Amino acid sequence: MKNIAILGAVFGDEGKGAFTHHFSKDYDWVIRFSGGANAGHTIYRDGIKYVHNLLPSFDWRHSHVKAFLGSGMVIDLEQLCKEVQQLHAISPEIASRIYIDPDAFVVLPEHKEEDKANNAHIGSTNRGIGPAYKSKIARAGIKVRDAINKFDQNIVNLNYYGVKFKYAMELERQFKNDKLLFEGAQGIMLDINHGTYPYVSCGDATISGIYASGFASYKLDKVYGVAKCYTTKVGEGPFPTELSGKEADELRKLGNEYGATTGRPRKVGWIDLPALQYSCKKGGINSLILTKFDILNGRNQVPMCVSYGKTPVCSADFFNIPSYNLQYINVPGWKNADNLDELKPFISLVEGYSGLPVEYISKGIKSADIVPW
Ligand code: IMO
Ligand code: MG
Repeated sequence: MKNIAILGAVFGDEGKGAFTHHFSKDYDWVIRFSGGANAGHTIYRDGIKYVHNLLPSFDWRHSHVKAFLGSGMVIDLEQLCKEVQQLHAISPEIASRIYIDPDAFVVLPEHKEEDKANNAHIGSTNRGIGPAYKSKIARAGIKVRDAINKFDQNIVNLNYYGVKFKYAMELERQFKNDKLLFEGAQGIMLDINHGTYPYVSCGDATISGIYASGFASYKLDKVYGVAKCYTTKVGEGPFPTELSGKEADELRKLGNEYGATTGRPRKVGWIDLPALQYSCKKGGINSLILTKFDILNGRNQVPMCVSYGKTPVCSADFFNIPSYNLQYINVPGWKNADNLDELKPFISLVEGYSGLPVEYISKGIKSADIVPW
């Protein structure tokens, strides 16, 4: 496949980074198109943990793989310098494969201050994302090209590391011939247009964000949505299948569900098929990746939410659902996710409800734990 996208299907943190990293060796470009340093994409490479907030999850061990930060992003240049510096320290050659679209917007220190002051009720990561997008929409934003023109010290540093500044159109010839992997940020339920507004981030988590970043004339051969075999969420807002008490604490601990960006404990719950179905339709997702099956090892039964009593058609339908309307089916669990046959009842139900094929699953953090279904 020439061009694919990997999007978060629910509330983010589903494992987009791990899959993007895994697939990236078969692509020439890994492209972030939305969000900023609110994303926390965890990658385990050769047994070492890396968290990328701004850089795409490209596997830089393969010298043909390049990274592109697209115009739909809001970029904290200081944070980007830190991430690039780490790669430059490994090898200057890696940093020279990072490209930034000068049409992207910049997150300023005052945007982060504004987040802290005004957006605690949303559960913001305080990375300045909302205020930076607000400035953009108010036509008062600062673009990366403005920072270039002003010889901003961070731009000087990025230049020193070998980072290149190129508009998407300047790379059109390469993009048309090369293989592109678009890496989403957040999840569809956090999308500014289709998520659980106002408890959302401010970027585009759907395929619209790819088109909005200047890639409207590139055909996508596949749009993967990544979901966990249970659900997690950080921040405030509705979470219909949320668990509480000891059951939640145990699942959180087993899954090591603590935010990659902020370290906050994630809320946890069972898989939510009405939400998944909604987000696949809104997001333009046509194939699924399910992750973290090892975390539910050893359960006799696994609950799956199959209905809210009515099919959600808008973000309001995720708020205040009476618990008696939430319908669950308990499917047989699995002793060990390595025995793939045991996963069939669960995965068949996901495919049946979403109407989409599950193409890959993961059952651990190693690359070998990613298997085709
Ligand atoms: P990745 O890419 C999970 C959540 C925040 C908060 C809301 C708004 O790692 O999946 P913001 O800082 O954007 O104003 O926060 O969105 N949020 C995420 N949750 N994964 C993410 O990214 C998130 N990015 C933002 O917790 O509830
Ligand atoms: Mg994350």
